[in-house]
Amino acid sequence: MEVKRRMTLAATTVVIAFVACAPRVIAASFGQAPTEYQQYCAGCHGKDGAGDGPLGAFLSPRPRDFANCKVMKAITDQTLFNAIKNGGASVGVSPNMPAWGGSFNDAQIHDLVKYVRQFCPQTASK
Ligand code: HEC
Repeated sequence: MEVKRRMTLAATTVVIAFVACAPRVIAASFGQAPTEYQQYCAGCHGKDGAGDGPLGAFLSPRPRDFANCKVMKAITDQTLFNAIKNGGASVGVSPNMPAWGGSFNDAQIHDLVKYVRQFCPQTASK
């Protein structure tokens, strides 16, 4: 556990150093998330994350607007992660948010969390 925590800390430090030194290549740290997002999420959440995808228009409530910083600020990374992995119902939001745990592994889901955060840079994952 301690080793794992240290490794996480080391990884975080590397990421912070990377982001601080190379702002123009931040996109690389999202892994495959930008492509996955456009393919699987944008239909509901909108290509710019505003909750306005063509499929989302038929849903009530509408898909989460990731560009609404006030709302996004109040939601923890862990909740976003659980919502993506286990579906909306698992975190008390709409069951129309599908569970993606069968399609993406935890690392991919963490990248998706980071990616949805970048629609509101001031609430970005640390
Ligand atoms: C079928 C439409 C649909 C698709 C596809 C979809 N979502 Fe959602 N998503 C929703 C809805 C509806 C909500 C809940 C909104 C509410 O209840 O206010 C939601 C909520 C969320 C939330 C916020 C959870 C919270 O706690 O507020 C996240 C994060 C999220 N979706 C990520 C994703 C990601 C990442 C993908 C693609 C892998 C995706 N969604 C695909 C409809 C969708």
